[in-house]
Amino acid sequence: MPIAIVSGSGGLIGAEAARYFCEHGFDVIGIENDMRAYFFGPEATTRHTTERLEADLGSSFRSLAIDIRDEDAIRKLLRTNKAEVELIVHAAAQPSHDWAASEPQTDFTVNANGTLNLLQAARDFTPAASFVFTSTNKVYGDRPNFLPLAELETRWELPEDHQWYGGIDLTMPIDLSTHSLFGVSKAAGDLLVQEYGRYFEMPTVCFRGGCLTGPQHAGAQLHGFLAYLMKCTVSGDPYTVFGYKGKQVRDNIHAHDVVRAFHAFHRSPAAGAVYNLGGGRDSNVSVLEAIALCEKITGRSLDYELSEQARIGDHMWWISDLSAFKADFPEWELTFGIEDVLRDIHDSNAERWLAEVAAR
Ligand SMILES: NC(=O)c1ccc[n+]([C@@H]2O[C@H](COP(=O)([O-])OP(=O)(O)OC[C@H]3O[C@@H](n4cnc5c(N)ncnc54)[C@H](O)[C@@H]3O)[C@@H](O)[C@H]2O)c1
Repeated sequence: MPIAIVSGSGGLIGAEAARYFCEHGFDVIGIENDMRAYFFGPEATTRHTTERLEADLGSSFRSLAIDIRDEDAIRKLLRTNKAEVELIVHAAAQPSHDWAASEPQTDFTVNANGTLNLLQAARDFTPAASFVFTSTNKVYGDRPNFLPLAELETRWELPEDHQWYGGIDLTMPIDLSTHSLFGVSKAAGDLLVQEYGRYFEMPTVCFRGGCLTGPQHAGAQLHGFLAYLMKCTVSGDPYTVFGYKGKQVRDNIHAHDVVRAFHAFHRSPAAGAVYNLGGGRDSNVSVLEAIALCEKITGRSLDYELSEQARIGDHMWWISDLSAFKADFPEWELTFGIEDVLRDIHDSNAERWLAEVAAR
């Protein structure tokens, strides 16, 4: 049986990937040390997700509590399984730009050194395995904020005749801008993944994600915007919108569509590929628009305030251009729109969130 290694298998993307690839003929070995609870507190633990995967997937899945910063453990894992490993999905990360400023060395060693450990072990033991890296649109820093954005009633928006109205493509430069330290550590990982692809001709890909979301997101204030917004709407907890009058636009893609993109690449890999990946023009929303949708779906009002303080490096507007990926993989398409994503988050979690409120 071919093996897929999935780092961060208790997280949003990792869990979706573990489930998906088990269902598509792989044995999956997860790498997950529950560091999300260290980053964002006990409410963000991924323990339940790992336990659910183990219960649902049986012998096709096992989760190892390895830290991707532990070079020896990573090398041992790939050396031991080198004959079977056909795919590596690297989704473990410190994922928040706000958190990165509090412990820059932890952020950098997880996002950059951890990626290097996996790449070098892959080069030495499984060089033909597809290596999928979940990069981020934060590699572009705050450059999107210098686009000629117009203020509309509920969102910032580009003029329709702008070259990037349909979405930003890879020609946007990644330097000479403010990234947050998270954006820098992810850019280091992104460049390493490209370099191992180009220099060593390994089948690597960077997916520079917009907002990746889904019902399994352990939403916390510092990461997992839509899941946390829906959680606050359901539970009645207050929510703070940081900056830009709540009109900042994000494109949102369901984790299932993200993982389907990984599979498309694995079926027909190339060396050193890079794509922007998000909801694109078909699935995007401003924070104010997302609040209105959450209120519509739940029938409740969100208790929120608008802070004038924007997060450093935060985007006022981001929509991914998906045309390059669609051209290379025409069989792939989005299957969830923004309202479908929010309904899925709500329907999968509302009962549990209400029970948590009742138990307080
Ligand atoms: N969610 C988004 O909106 C988004 C957007 C763009 C890019 N990304 C990228 O996608 C990837 C997955 O994001 P996510 O939303 O699933 O994040 P997540 O926090 O839900 O999952 C990451 C997982 O990695 C684990 N982890 C962290 N450090 C680890 C370490 N040192 N060793 C082993 N495991 C470790 C965490 O415990 C967590 O379960 C990340 O690389 C992130 O930067 C996410």
